[in-house]
Amino acid sequence: TEINLEQHFQNKIDNEIRIEPKDWMPEAYRKTLIRQISQHAHSEIVGMLPEANWITRAPSLKRKKILLAKVQDEGGHGLYLYCAAETLGVTRDETLRDLHSGKAKYSSIFNYPTLTWADMGAVGWLVDGAAILNQVPLCRASYGPYARAMVRICKEESFHQRQGYELMMKLAQGSPEQKEMAQDAFNRWWWPTLMMFGPRDAESGNTEASMNWRIKRFSNDELRQRFVDMTVPQAEYLGLTIPDPELKFNEETGHYEFGEIDWEEFWNVVKGNGMCNKERIDVRRTAFDEGAWVRDAATAYHEKRKQKEQQ
Ligand code: 3HC
Repeated sequence: TEINLEQHFQNKIDNEIRIEPKDWMPEAYRKTLIRQISQHAHSEIVGMLPEANWITRAPSLKRKKILLAKVQDEGGHGLYLYCAAETLGVTRDETLRDLHSGKAKYSSIFNYPTLTWADMGAVGWLVDGAAILNQVPLCRASYGPYARAMVRICKEESFHQRQGYELMMKLAQGSPEQKEMAQDAFNRWWWPTLMMFGPRDAESGNTEASMNWRIKRFSNDELRQRFVDMTVPQAEYLGLTIPDPELKFNEETGHYEFGEIDWEEFWNVVKGNGMCNKERIDVRRTAFDEGAWVRDAATAYHEKRKQKEQQ
């Protein structure tokens, strides 16, 4: 009966037994995974755009090659995750339609503009640093295809974070103008990166179910706190000032306390009214339309192959 199936399923979850595509699963579990994995994939694909903006303007061939490799990695991460979502019964066309229509979410952080070369350092260091904290626990997510996609993604993510921090180090230890560029980028990316972890736990509608199903292993606030504790010393090493006058280390708890996040800005960006939301979706729609001939050619080739095999 349904009850036994539900109980049997939860026992597997509680005993850390992976759920695979062909296993029975509650509809709500399938639905929340499709939601999270497809939005994660959209984040990777849209996340290519802010950095792509600087590939043609990188200051050296070495920096151009590093940035090209990183942006290409993000594209691959998106494809793994779209494939993981498809194992749950959604098609690529459906998920892309949801992105292009503005129905699907993707990480708020990618709706901010990348104004100077220093932004490439801040994004690698902070955004990929935050992504690592959020994605490493997902390697142990209860749903097999998602967890396995994460293992490969996390390996590449650490290179993304390190190249960003190394870029910031070069600037922070460079000329006064370069140091000012690093500080300016840090000022603009610090708070939006804290917002990446999602709303406060009290406002997080999905956390309870996600943790019960061992998709989410740590709450939004827990990971956000871990990020602040890890990143403040890195910023201090660079000689950068954290743009938060309320930041202070609490000897008792061993954690940094920090100021209030602008939640109105967060929800505004999530709702589609951020600085670059429209531009990002327009670029994705255009890329999809301009790429139609590739899909048509691949489909035609596939049909031809099939006919040949049937002769
Ligand atoms: N941007 C946009 N929407 C966000 C968000 C953000 N930063 N944080 C939360 N939201 C949305 C949620 O999707 C949810 O809306 P929905 O129910 O319509 O999906 C709503 O706000 C409430 O948030 P919850 O905390 O209840 O939602 P979750 O439990 O899903 O937690 C999450 C949010 C932590 C982002 C979780 O979905 C998650 O871990 N997702 C997978 C990882 C991911 O997407 N990471 C960030 C982007 S990937 C990346 O950075 C690529 C790297 O290579 C640079």
